Amino acid sequence: MCGIIGFVGNEQPLGGMLIEGLRRLEYRGYDSWGVAVGQNGTIEVAKRAGRIVKEAPTLPSASIGFGHTRWATHGGVTDQNAHPHVDCSGRFAVIHNGIIENFRKLRQQLLDAGHEFISETDSEVLAHLIEDSVGDRTDVTSVTEGVRTVFGMLRGLNAFIVLDNHSRHLFAVKNVSPLVLGHNDTGSYIASDSLALVEHVDDVHYMEDGQVAVIGPGEIRLYNHESGDQLNLDWKPLTITTGDTSLNGYPHFMIKEISEQPDVIRRIVTDGIEPVRGLAELIRESYGTFLVGSGTSSYAALSGSYLFSRIARRHVNFNVGSEFKYQEHFLTDRSLVVALSQSGETADVIEAVMAAKERGAKIAALVNVPGSTLDRMADYSVHLNAGPEQCVLSTKAYVAKVAILLLAAHILNGSEHAGREILWQSVDGIERLLSPIASDHIRNVASQIVDRDHCFIIGRGLSYPTALESALKIKEVSYIHAEGFAGGELKHGVIALIDTGTPAIVFSPLDETRDDILSGAMEMKSRGAVIIGVSPEDDEVFDIHVPVADVGDGSPIVNVVPAQLLGYQLALMRNLDPDKPRNLAKSVTVK
Ligand code: AGP
Ligand code: GLU
Repeated sequence: MCGIIGFVGNEQPLGGMLIEGLRRLEYRGYDSWGVAVGQNGTIEVAKRAGRIVKEAPTLPSASIGFGHTRWATHGGVTDQNAHPHVDCSGRFAVIHNGIIENFRKLRQQLLDAGHEFISETDSEVLAHLIEDSVGDRTDVTSVTEGVRTVFGMLRGLNAFIVLDNHSRHLFAVKNVSPLVLGHNDTGSYIASDSLALVEHVDDVHYMEDGQVAVIGPGEIRLYNHESGDQLNLDWKPLTITTGDTSLNGYPHFMIKEISEQPDVIRRIVTDGIEPVRGLAELIRESYGTFLVGSGTSSYAALSGSYLFSRIARRHVNFNVGSEFKYQEHFLTDRSLVVALSQSGETADVIEAVMAAKERGAKIAALVNVPGSTLDRMADYSVHLNAGPEQCVLSTKAYVAKVAILLLAAHILNGSEHAGREILWQSVDGIERLLSPIASDHIRNVASQIVDRDHCFIIGRGLSYPTALESALKIKEVSYIHAEGFAGGELKHGVIALIDTGTPAIVFSPLDETRDDILSGAMEMKSRGAVIIGVSPEDDEVFDIHVPVADVGDGSPIVNVVPAQLLGYQLALMRNLDPDKPRNLAKSVTVK
């Protein structure tokens, strides 16, 4: 949930490099930013609440430094609460990702011992704990031991990095929150995402939970946090190319990534079949399959449960990541848990997978980031190959997951060709929605609802997860209170919310749900709602018709695109940043 970058090596004007690295990671959290460089005798810190500044902060050239972009969990969004945090002596600076669940007790103990705190954060306790644990010892071994001791005192999922201005080393340790190492002939690097290292190194080492990295100018050493044993580094080629991470002429990553969706599905159908066949085989062999994800990934998982039922007559369970760890008691060594996650770093899903592994379940992962934590935890991975998704909102990764699950269901059913055909039709259906005429129509719809505070979205059957995902797209980028409901739930209370002029988006594919969902639309219309029908065919109940292709079971892939485009237009009309909505982060690495 935060961006981290660090360097130890040849002296250089580090401020610019650190800020550029943070800029690449800002999508992971952007409440505030901060950088620190170690000078002879002092640590210079520049940090501020708000988005990263355009120009590099004025910091002296240095041979050691690090930076952090924050997603606040404890303590408001202020300059003082921005990371890095420095200890009382000014020797150590710390940056942190995660939540220290026992920080209040630790903070009180430190206050009683005379430490002075500047911030309200949980993170600042780390600086003072390191100060106490290391004392006046200056050798690298002693600082390493101090870091191990402090890490052992923490409860919760955390990663932190210590800049020691005496030994001139960085010390890093993690559990769950991601950290990746790299080096070149100018020095050694650490970051929370290989995206920040893409212009500096060719190979990376993905830190595992409980590993401690000691990062010096010429070398990186790795230790087991508990035993203290030195470990080998496992260098792997860094797979992202810089071309993937630019806007390529688009005004925002959101519209770029929406527009990339046809190619994402083409790649699945042409080059990505083999891994999907492997997934289908695992599902066939399992006794109980559970699709697990958070947020948008949970809606892709829910779509999957409908697709496996309709296409393969197979009962595949669905669970939200944060809830699954409370419901996994029935898992056995014949169970298969399929973790869906664009980032591969979502703490709620990682925790669910950890609980499932303890019960012997086999783990598969549908992830977009090779080398991510879930990718490395899984027994089997299907990479989405959607290219870096840098808008905080997930779009192309969503349709990739649904496409893969649809294809897996058809492979399981022995109808792979039919599955590929539906995906080709879905490609065409999306491309039609990206046309100038269709985009103008969506812009016009947006102009009619941009001033509304509420919007309700209904769907039945396969369109129910589409309604949920569409609501999430609209609410998280425009801040309009958009809620998705199962169409049949309207009469059980939801309809009380309908007022004159309330916009109601209705998903009405030409399937078995059409008659019932149109009845639901009529119930809302009779109470004053403005009905926006997303359907291959118009209907008298629609006040506005958004035409979409009839792609059968591909409807969750195609029908979400109007909602993605609508959310994008609403954000622009409300002068909001569609790529970095308030309070959000791209990768939720805290529970
Ligand atoms: C999606 O638009 C949201 N930003 C959010 O719900 C996201 O899908 C969720 O945090 C899960 O992320 P993941 O796919 O990387 O696990
Ligand atoms: N608990 C930390 C804080 O609130 C979280 C920092 C982060 O992960 O961005 O500062």
